Amino acid sequence: MTALLFVCLGNICRSPLAEGIFRQTLEEAGLAGQFTLDSAGTGAWHAGNPPDPRSIAVAARNGIDISAQRARQVTDADFSRFDWILAMDRDNLAALRRKNSGRGPAELRLFLDNPARDVPDPYYGGPDGFDQVFHMLQEGSRRFLKQLQGG
Ligand code: 4NP
Repeated sequence: MTALLFVCLGNICRSPLAEGIFRQTLEEAGLAGQFTLDSAGTGAWHAGNPPDPRSIAVAARNGIDISAQRARQVTDADFSRFDWILAMDRDNLAALRRKNSGRGPAELRLFLDNPARDVPDPYYGGPDGFDQVFHMLQEGSRRFLKQLQGG
């Protein structure tokens, strides 16, 4: 089993989508049984809330149901429970490094790291931002899976 944690700031826009999209990518590849997936936020403001309606909508338009997810904040235990912790942007990667202070075995990195790119926060923008984020995450998911498989 490989355990992956997707992390953004609020855990209501980007990381729930990343989790849903990566799950779909795994299902299409017949690999869903080999992975545990979760998402979390470096902030706690939205803990307990479902994903942003705009994230639920863009996922649904693409055949993915993320409506049952609930936001939570990253915990200390995450740094030992997960093999990979995948940050949506550099600010969140820096926040994760501060929280972990080098103790847990989880591998921390930007989700889109080759070339290194932030997944932009779509929270304050219009609906186009969510489509753009969806496509970045879909491309990133395919690449990351390929990388995990040694390609
Ligand atoms: P996310 O987007 O980090 O992609 O979930 C945000 C959601 C909420 C806030 C910021 C970013 N907020 O400030 O409440």
